[in-house]
Amino acid sequence: MTGALGQIGSELVPALRERNGTDDVVASDIRRPHASTPGVQGPFEFVDCTNTRQLQEVVRRYNIDTIYHLAAILSAVAEEKPLVAWQVNMGGLYNVLEVARTNRCALFVPSSIGAFGPTTPADHTPQDTVQHPTTMYGITKTAGELLCNYYYVRFGVDTRGVRYPGLISHITPPAGGTTDYAVEIFYEAIRHRPYTSFLAADTRLDMMYMPDAIKAAIDVMEADAARLIHRNAFNVTAMNFTPTEVAEAIRRRIPDFVIRYQIDPVRQAIADSWPNSIDDSAAREEWGWDPSYDLETTTDDMLKHLEEKLANDEE
Ligand code: NAD
Ligand code: SER
Repeated sequence: MTGALGQIGSELVPALRERNGTDDVVASDIRRPHASTPGVQGPFEFVDCTNTRQLQEVVRRYNIDTIYHLAAILSAVAEEKPLVAWQVNMGGLYNVLEVARTNRCALFVPSSIGAFGPTTPADHTPQDTVQHPTTMYGITKTAGELLCNYYYVRFGVDTRGVRYPGLISHITPPAGGTTDYAVEIFYEAIRHRPYTSFLAADTRLDMMYMPDAIKAAIDVMEADAARLIHRNAFNVTAMNFTPTEVAEAIRRRIPDFVIRYQIDPVRQAIADSWPNSIDDSAAREEWGWDPSYDLETTTDDMLKHLEEKLANDEE
């Protein structure tokens, strides 16, 4: 797995190790794990995905048969550093695809709701539709989807992937995305502080709790290939809400919780270019996608885990 120390990787590594055995999952990143990093006990390698030699060496040394390519620059950071985002998101993906082709590896690559743009139908966004993203992140995600399809059609590489919405989790905080508010708000609620949202009160976006995101990654890779009409970039979602709605869900459990608003124009413009709600019926039909968590169950579980985590941090 590339980018294994990030928000998704820190939970996907332990899930895959649970299924396949600790030594059969090699985590890699350009950062080093801390002693407290989840899943730190298994194999770890330093791999920069923009360096083909490093990728090739680790894939061959461990005889890797499946690559989960999570290394990427997320939407808000990509707007600050568009050239770096292009180099990591496109250059890194190209290298990973080549290494997958030459070593006959299957490959999971996550895309995003960021692959859609302002001219995409915003409600019940279809699986196959207009994709003219206006952000560097979205441009790399759309081009990445096409490149993964190309490697399947042209070279037979078993590429698969999903378009994740904003992901909510309590283990590793998100790093520079537009949907990060939907995680930060839970941390501040547990700290009994007001939360200042950088997105406007009525900004509606698709979201998903991390256990469902992990399930999606595993299920799409284990899906019967004969049933797949699409392969890459399946729309998947679990819920959609606005900052006001998630704040209300928290206030039903923590009555003195307060949300304020101070709009960040860059992240607001990104969010405004993304859909309100995507249609994930292709994933449901082709590989049985069926999320478990909605806003209410996510709120209960996030607050429970963060209460324990932040209490331990204070001790
Ligand atoms: P993250 O930013 O939390 O983690 C990415 C990891 O990649 C980091 O640990 C970082 O150190 C590493 N990295 C950065 N540059 C690298 C390089 N050159 N080589 C190797 N590693 C490098 O991201 P995440 O949230 O875990 O997202 C993983 C994937 O899922 C990305 O493709 C992202 O676009 C996609 N995705 C995430 C979300 C979300 O809400 N988290 C939503 C949609 C799609
Ligand atoms: N959560 C991601 C971001 O905001 C969506 O791809 O960048």
